[in-house]
Amino acid sequence: MSINIKSQATIFVIFGGTGDLNARKLAPALYNLFLDGWLPEKFSIIGTGRTPLTDDQFRTKLLDDINQFSRSGKAEKAKWEVFSKNIYYQVSDINDSETYKEFGKRVEAHNADWKTKSNVIYYLAVSPNFFPIIASNISKAKLAADPEKVRIVIEKPFGHDLESSKELNKLLSGIFDERQIYRIDHYLGKETVQNIMAFRFANSIMEPLWNRNYIEHVQISVTEQLGVEERGDYYDGAGAMRDMIQNHLLQLLCLVAMEPPVNFSADEVRNRKVDVLRAMRRFSPEDVRNSAVRGQYASGWMQGKEVPGYRKEPKVNPESNTETFAAVKFFVDNWRWQGVPFYLRTGKRLHQSASIITIQFKDVPHLVFPTEAAESWQQNRLIISIQPEMSIRIQVQAKRPGLDMVLNAVDMVFDYKGTYTTQAPEAYETLLLDTMLGDQTLFMRGDQVEEAWALIMPILHTWVNKKSLNFPNYSADSWGPEAAEALIARDGFTWFTLPINGKK
Ligand code: BG6
Repeated sequence: MSINIKSQATIFVIFGGTGDLNARKLAPALYNLFLDGWLPEKFSIIGTGRTPLTDDQFRTKLLDDINQFSRSGKAEKAKWEVFSKNIYYQVSDINDSETYKEFGKRVEAHNADWKTKSNVIYYLAVSPNFFPIIASNISKAKLAADPEKVRIVIEKPFGHDLESSKELNKLLSGIFDERQIYRIDHYLGKETVQNIMAFRFANSIMEPLWNRNYIEHVQISVTEQLGVEERGDYYDGAGAMRDMIQNHLLQLLCLVAMEPPVNFSADEVRNRKVDVLRAMRRFSPEDVRNSAVRGQYASGWMQGKEVPGYRKEPKVNPESNTETFAAVKFFVDNWRWQGVPFYLRTGKRLHQSASIITIQFKDVPHLVFPTEAAESWQQNRLIISIQPEMSIRIQVQAKRPGLDMVLNAVDMVFDYKGTYTTQAPEAYETLLLDTMLGDQTLFMRGDQVEEAWALIMPILHTWVNKKSLNFPNYSADSWGPEAAEALIARDGFTWFTLPINGKK
């Protein structure tokens, strides 16, 4: 890392300071960065929101949040005291120009005090409806003028569809340079997701196999046991396609399918990823019917607890047509991937919480063993488990010990837990550090976001125009609707799952 983080005086202004994202992710991430020595010597965190709070009240709130949500457990008193001196609160009305003048004054005061010109990071941890007004007011107050020093971080969802994401990009690019805009997709900050690039491009053994000649199909499966929890109002207007496929799953697909970048610079990596999105086959309404499946959960029992169906969740329309499950078969039309299906699925209230990428290789060209030896024959697979298990497995055939020739599939495993003793940082620690360092590699560029929207718009249109007649169509604690099994079974495959704690 060429930039010395210690010398980068930084001010974070967190819109949505009293909100859930700050409580669960941002504050614990900043605290852990502090503990691990990754914060600048001079830093300040200014939380802002409508609730009137004093600095001390805000500090107490964040301490409670950190004690509850930080990966490093409860804060140590001495460490907390040093850290919390840098936390402030400003009650604000985001529509009022005075709010922004006040931020300006605070930044000036810190700069005078620290005798330097600080980096200022505006973090928009608020509902997307507020992105335009905040961005415009930052600009009107002339707080965005220095592209070297000022950055803006935008949480997903980035737009609601292609049109709105274009509008938002247009608005932001009228105020900020692209190099100032950090669009978050928190999956990109996950240790195991970053490792996909390391695995592919720091090893020579995979590349010769990494194409249509050897790979039969790819599966990307992000399943969750949780329902929509308290987020019914947001989720009911979004659904699984917008919430997960448009961003996290397509980003995973890009990492699997991208060409090797010539170097690790942000734009080079993002160019190679956007190439994949551009090469993805667009859907006709007919393709949507054949290659995309939607589902919505019914009530059921999860881990001994009765859980409501989606339509009975708080703040959800009781006749909602929103999908809580989506499975799609995509193709990447280029030389490397022609004809290789990429099956993506995601859903809530499913049997297991697990994010897994499975690369299934083609079968051997000729079977030399007697059929009885190969009864449990299994094609080679590479399984990248992102969470909760953090591992990479290669499934190969082996001879079972014994006097007769019997083959069965065994796993060669690289497991983070068994290999490293250091705890992996949370995704938000990586992303906040990169924002401070000005490294955009793990952030979404405007064109990537638009390409991903363009790809899924035909599916969204078809689903909106044709309401599902069979919702809810899967029960809680299942693997989703039967049609999702059929989608992949038609091609002769099945969804792969890893046993977690011994349970499938
Ligand atoms: C968020 C989605 O982006 O990702 C949520 O809005 C989803 O609906 C979450 O639950 C999943 O993230 P993770 O890190 O828990 O896999």
